[in-house]
Amino acid sequence: MPHVPKISMSYKEQIISDRMPRHIAIIMDGNGRWAKQHGLKRMFGHREGVRTVHEITTAAAEMGIDYLTLYAFSTENWNRPKEEVDALMALLVETIRQETPTLMQNNVKLTTIGDLSRLPEVTRTKFEQCLQQTAANTGLTMVLALSYSSRWEITDAMTRIANDVQNGKMKAEEVSEQVVSDYLTTKSVPDPDLLIRTSGEYRISNFLLWQLAYTELYFTDCLWPDFTVEEFYKAIVDYQHRERRFGKTSEQV
Ligand code: FPP
Repeated sequence: MPHVPKISMSYKEQIISDRMPRHIAIIMDGNGRWAKQHGLKRMFGHREGVRTVHEITTAAAEMGIDYLTLYAFSTENWNRPKEEVDALMALLVETIRQETPTLMQNNVKLTTIGDLSRLPEVTRTKFEQCLQQTAANTGLTMVLALSYSSRWEITDAMTRIANDVQNGKMKAEEVSEQVVSDYLTTKSVPDPDLLIRTSGEYRISNFLLWQLAYTELYFTDCLWPDFTVEEFYKAIVDYQHRERRFGKTSEQV
């Protein structure tokens, strides 16, 4: 049944605390279009996008969400003009440097997924430092997808499974869904309950294809720099009014 929000209540007030998604994944799209709308260069959009990352991460930590996965840089993003790629890499380093104290204050643990070997040395080193610094934090786990694509991840997992079968570490008939999940970069993270994509695009764009099998999808026209905490709450309220059947009937769940 479609959810009809009560106009007098804010979305935050409508959140049901015992029905929180454990893991929210976000495709942060629309930075470039936001910049264009404001007559600015694309990098200004990415800078505004960082402000949104700060606000949404803080809100997720406050709400007690366990995992927040952000698609920060895809494998395909390497094909953007060199100037934009270099500027994004510099922005990532600057953001991590600036945000680490906030992550510590909010008890946020940073982790990454993706082919980090492709990142410039300085970017990788900065991330590794931040991963170590926040490793003992016990609140929200923030998973940054960097140089990530799902087809890369699945191909990499298949190659390692094939090697392990060939080397006798495992039998082919022992390859189960659980084994495949354990070879993915997300092995220690539960599958997302909710995926949010901003900017009015209705695509998954090579993001967590295996892990999204039963995830609830939420699309909004908001460009990522315009995505407010209230919009975030709205997505969570929408999620909380869906029936997750996991292939069963309504009566069974
Ligand atoms: C998509 O917008 C966004 C990106 C490719 C980069 C996202 C990066 C950030 C928000 C900044 C860094 C983030 C962190 C976590 C530190 P787009 O450029 O594809 O926008 P467009 O589709 O409107 O052109």
